[in-house]
Amino acid sequence: MESSLEKFSDFLNRHHAVEKRIDDPDSSSDFFAEALKLPEIVGFTALADTLAYARLLTELLRITAGANSRRLIDLGIGSAIPSIIALRDNPQNLDLKVIGIDTDAAALQTASENAETFGVSRRFQFYQGDFLKVMDDLVLDSKTLIGSNPPYLPVPESVKNSKFSSINGGTDGTFYLKKILQHPFPSGSVLALAWSSLSNPAVIISLMEKNYEILYVHSYIAKFGVYTKSNELAPHLEAERNADRCLYFTGNDGIHRQWILGTILRRL
Ligand SMILES: C[S@@+](CC[C@H](N)C(=O)[O-])C[C@H]1O[C@@H](n2cnc3c(N)ncnc32)[C@H](O)[C@@H]1O
Repeated sequence: MESSLEKFSDFLNRHHAVEKRIDDPDSSSDFFAEALKLPEIVGFTALADTLAYARLLTELLRITAGANSRRLIDLGIGSAIPSIIALRDNPQNLDLKVIGIDTDAAALQTASENAETFGVSRRFQFYQGDFLKVMDDLVLDSKTLIGSNPPYLPVPESVKNSKFSSINGGTDGTFYLKKILQHPFPSGSVLALAWSSLSNPAVIISLMEKNYEILYVHSYIAKFGVYTKSNELAPHLEAERNADRCLYFTGNDGIHRQWILGTILRRL
């Protein structure tokens, strides 16, 4: 049987993934330059993940530029930094508005302040709520794009600490990814989705290829961060890797690294 790593490598090859590292200052200085232009942000702890998603939304707006999209619905918008960067880097479509959904009131407050700081408040509407419920009520048209960098880290059920709630993707990391990928969005809907090699990639790849045409893939190698190195998650990630549901590697420097993925998908 094909291993997760074989399936994952094959997926990257077949879809001509853009492959980069984002923890290497030499090859990723543009990422960090972008970050330095940003104000100091409350709770901004996952730089690599957020900036990889910013790149994904930028690419989404670039490849759909001809479609004159009117709305980008960002499911789990957090600080709104990715959407703000994507708008900044796609100045050709000034009519595009971002609808940001998040359960976390503090994140939405930060998002609103960031939009204000960047002078783009009029292009944002924020709603506090559960994006799984919002997805059910959405009436999508061909001018609406969807983006999400959902919680996707594997977190064992025994971990109850609320500090993990914004990244908790269930025991194998796929809880939200599956809900999004299985949702019956209308045929032709375009979705930008961030995920990780830690979140049962074989299952996610099968779902994507079953329900979607894959328009774009990027894969950024990133060092383990504050959550993935934590005592609560590290042993669980190792157990998940031993069960072939989670992929990461250890460099010569002894540091674990994952692949942060971004995919742009069109619903079949
Ligand atoms: C991994 S963070 C991504 C934040 C931001 N989009 C970024 O890329 O930096 C996931 C976000 O989803 C939010 N979230 C988690 N579950 C949610 C749900 N069911 N409905 C709405 N937002 C949710 C969290 O509060 C958090 O802000």
